[in-house]
Amino acid sequence: MTFKTIIEPFRIKAVEPIRMTTREQRQRLLDDAGRNPFLLRADDVLIDLLTDSGTGAMSAEQWAGIMRGDESYAGANSYYRFAAAVEDIFGFHHALPTHQGRAAERILFSTMCKPGDVVPNNTHFDTTRANIEYVGAAAVDLPIPEGLSPSASHPFKGNMDVDALRRLIARHGREKIPLVMLTVTNNSGGGQPVSMANIKAVRAVCGEAHIPLYIDACRFAENCWFIHEREPGYADAAIIDIARELFSYADGCTMSAKKDGLVNIGGFLATNDDALAKQEAALLILTEGFPTYGGLAGRDLEAMAIGLREVLEPDYLRYRIASTAYFGRHLTDIGYPIVQPPGGHAIYVDAAALLPHIPARSFPGQALLGELYLTGGIRAVEIGSVMFGKTDETSGEETTASMELVRLAIPRRVYTQSHVDYCIEVMADVYKRRSSIAGLRIVSQAPPLRHFTARFAPVEYTGSLTSLRESGS
Ligand code: F0G
Repeated sequence: MTFKTIIEPFRIKAVEPIRMTTREQRQRLLDDAGRNPFLLRADDVLIDLLTDSGTGAMSAEQWAGIMRGDESYAGANSYYRFAAAVEDIFGFHHALPTHQGRAAERILFSTMCKPGDVVPNNTHFDTTRANIEYVGAAAVDLPIPEGLSPSASHPFKGNMDVDALRRLIARHGREKIPLVMLTVTNNSGGGQPVSMANIKAVRAVCGEAHIPLYIDACRFAENCWFIHEREPGYADAAIIDIARELFSYADGCTMSAKKDGLVNIGGFLATNDDALAKQEAALLILTEGFPTYGGLAGRDLEAMAIGLREVLEPDYLRYRIASTAYFGRHLTDIGYPIVQPPGGHAIYVDAAALLPHIPARSFPGQALLGELYLTGGIRAVEIGSVMFGKTDETSGEETTASMELVRLAIPRRVYTQSHVDYCIEVMADVYKRRSSIAGLRIVSQAPPLRHFTARFAPVEYTGSLTSLRESGS
């Protein structure tokens, strides 16, 4: 007998109280924060869906590992346990610990790229793109067309467009492309998975052109679970074996262990290329630390070694993906337009479709964030024209993004089904009042990365919603 209720496959040993506030208090707090949830104190948030990065709960085993952590400067046991876990799961015998993912990216791109180079990916995450551009190279996104359409359904919407990759290599020549990357799952594209068939096809193109393939492995376990569930031939495979196969097609990976490493801080850069690893280790020493601890304490390495194995447990992954899907299904039933199908770590609401009366230059995503907080103390993040747009300094005109999304990211092992049910109820209430949500204008901003600090005020207008629509203001 199997039961349909998905329970959290853990019980709670330590609790962290969360604080209820009144709508009046939240109104004042949001006004004080310039309507930017990044500027709220975490204590004033009830359910924090800002990110799934570094916000997960560690297990009793990981906390035990923290005590066992070996803090020797060189050759610590904790490093060897970490390196053994990386070799066993990912198959790379050089594992350079870094304080988080972007440090691994910086070392990788400073070692492999030069000005004028081009680095393709299914979709670069913003730190990946920024680190590539920082060394003078260009970051190019090559998602399949379905990956760009929020409502299009496809089991592996994170796939790379392999023909576009072939054309890119033909256009620039292999000498200009020092590596190809694949992000699993594709965070910027809605947390969508990449199929094993696509990884193999990308590998084949890279192999012909003699270009190394790197995986951005942040959410590798969630991607492996989708392969297990959706790709023919993998239903009976162990998740760890799917991971081993996936990484067998790659020459290396970058990892933010703050996601599928189930730790609050940590990451690594891995490869099997001895000469490259030597160069990378030299840079690691310069800015992160000695190669057997990188930017971390021994206890962090210990927790990471344990987390990388725990994240592959089928009970955990079944619950993780089922609870994200449950959230997505209920929001869809209410009427929310979301990126379909739900990805692994987050639900992405299409704020442009939800709030058609708010033009992109009045930031529908940011407006929705404010309403979620005011109604239920929920914090989420805008991925739209606040994050990717720009204000022209002379004309004051806004350049807008291609999509106006709000990401509700789900921390790992932190919230229970009743927390998710609460969010659904709050969002049902917001949905009913959606046509009364007002757009915003920026009062102050500090580019680049203005979304972290910008302050907003409601767009003032007099007249009816129809005239607002017509005037486009
Ligand atoms: N790659 C991907 C796909 C990511 O999602 C992130 C971080 C990174 C690299 C960088 O890792 O933060 O450890 O330096 N994503 C977080 C998020 C910040 O909220 O999605 P990091």
